[in-house]
Amino acid sequence: MIKITYVEHNGREHVVDVPRGATIMEGARDNGIPGIEADCGGACSCATCHVYVDPSWVGKLPPKEAMENDMLDFAFEPDPVRSRLTCQIRVNDGLEGLVLRMPEKQV
Ligand code: FES
Repeated sequence: MIKITYVEHNGREHVVDVPRGATIMEGARDNGIPGIEADCGGACSCATCHVYVDPSWVGKLPPKEAMENDMLDFAFEPDPVRSRLTCQIRVNDGLEGLVLRMPEKQV
């Protein structure tokens, strides 16, 4: 299990253990964390699993694929550097301690 911190827009933190191989979106969904809706179930076609990655983690994540990049255009107030779609990132050992912040709303 890998510890990930999800921070709601109001500042409330949720520190949860997410299994290796699950996506960050699944970690939020399976732990009942509000703020990540994931309407398409992880198919990279809704942009409602958008988060802002903590600046200290931006360079440690796998790069965005073209599909994620395109879909982020539909997210609410995307940031060109910090925004990611959580259904497109699988949890691995290198993500221990990852911190993510939720946008004010999803689309
Ligand atoms: Fe729909 Fe990530 S869950 S784009």
